[in-house]
Amino acid sequence: MTSSMITMNDLGRHWHGSRAYVEPAIHRVLARAWYVLGEECRSFEAEFADFCGARHCIGVGNGTDALELALRALGIGRGDRVATVANAGYYASAALFQLDAVPVYVDVDRSTRLMDLERLQEALQLGDVKCVIVTHLYGLLHDMRAVRTIADKYGARVLEDCAQAHGAERGGVRAGAASDVAAFSFYPTKNLGALGDGGAIVTSDDVVGDRARKLRQYGWTKKYENEIPGGRNSRLDELQAAVLRAKLPMLPAWNARRRAIAQRYTDLIVNDRVVMPGSIGPEHVFHLFVVETDERESLRAHLMARGIGSEVHYPIPDHRQRAAPGGLSSTLQLPVTERLCGRVLSLPCYPEMTDEEACAVATAVNDW
Ligand SMILES: Cc1ncc(COP(=O)(O)O)c(C=O)c1O
Repeated sequence: MTSSMITMNDLGRHWHGSRAYVEPAIHRVLARAWYVLGEECRSFEAEFADFCGARHCIGVGNGTDALELALRALGIGRGDRVATVANAGYYASAALFQLDAVPVYVDVDRSTRLMDLERLQEALQLGDVKCVIVTHLYGLLHDMRAVRTIADKYGARVLEDCAQAHGAERGGVRAGAASDVAAFSFYPTKNLGALGDGGAIVTSDDVVGDRARKLRQYGWTKKYENEIPGGRNSRLDELQAAVLRAKLPMLPAWNARRRAIAQRYTDLIVNDRVVMPGSIGPEHVFHLFVVETDERESLRAHLMARGIGSEVHYPIPDHRQRAAPGGLSSTLQLPVTERLCGRVLSLPCYPEMTDEEACAVATAVNDW
């Protein structure tokens, strides 16, 4: 790798660009010398709930904990069947296995790569599905009104995985506001990223919010009184909360810049062997810009030879992961998921990327 390499992300540039307002926030925490569940976390929770258009936000340790604790807050437990997709990096599956709940994998749509709602309807018709986890993969917000209509018909709760979709909106409703509960990750490369791990649960349901708040701290009602089983320690610390508060006002501009890069790719890339993603409206915040091709390794090698990084999100469907409980994959039919896992390739797309770099990536793809 050379220093002129165009990488998938550049957190050094991000720090350089955000340092002027992030550093004072860090110093504020150091001066106050209060590190866990204090003023910064409370304020971030209020500000992020408001940003999403929801009543409550509960800061937690990371996005996977947010998924697991959100499921627990909904009352999902051992043996409960939960519909989800198998092309989204195993995070939802990991949370479900933590609870001994049972994933009901639903195939995805060929063009959006999000949960196929006809397949969802079929899965719910079979009965006994308590919850649907909708992952807004790569930053594309699913049609939550349509999801809701189907889920309501069968009495299933809805959990949004918004780890890749901070600020995406459809019909004026933002990611996290159109479900029973939503989970966010603030891993450093996310559209809103901390300087370490972080996550949040967002909900407008007072009961779910109250349960989630207790679950993230040992199940306490108050100090040393453990009310709810399944509680543990998963808290967003003051430093991360202060960093996130400082960055939150910039999120819409960063998302707009990601969209502009996606638009540039869409305008410039013309190659019969490469399928481009569809939508570039406010519903897509391009956490990742993902193309498809039958000859992925050849394209990757070609880009690498030109000093351009790429990544595969994700190569192995959840039901084929070795960590998954045995027998999951034997009878499953997920043809679109399987096909996508062999074809998807993410190109560099982050706010600090220059137009020249985006053009260089497009030119390299066209030359392949
Ligand atoms: C779709 C999705 N869900 C959940 C997670 C889990 O987040 P975390 O890494 O903070 O646990 C991630 C991020 O890595 C993700 O991309």
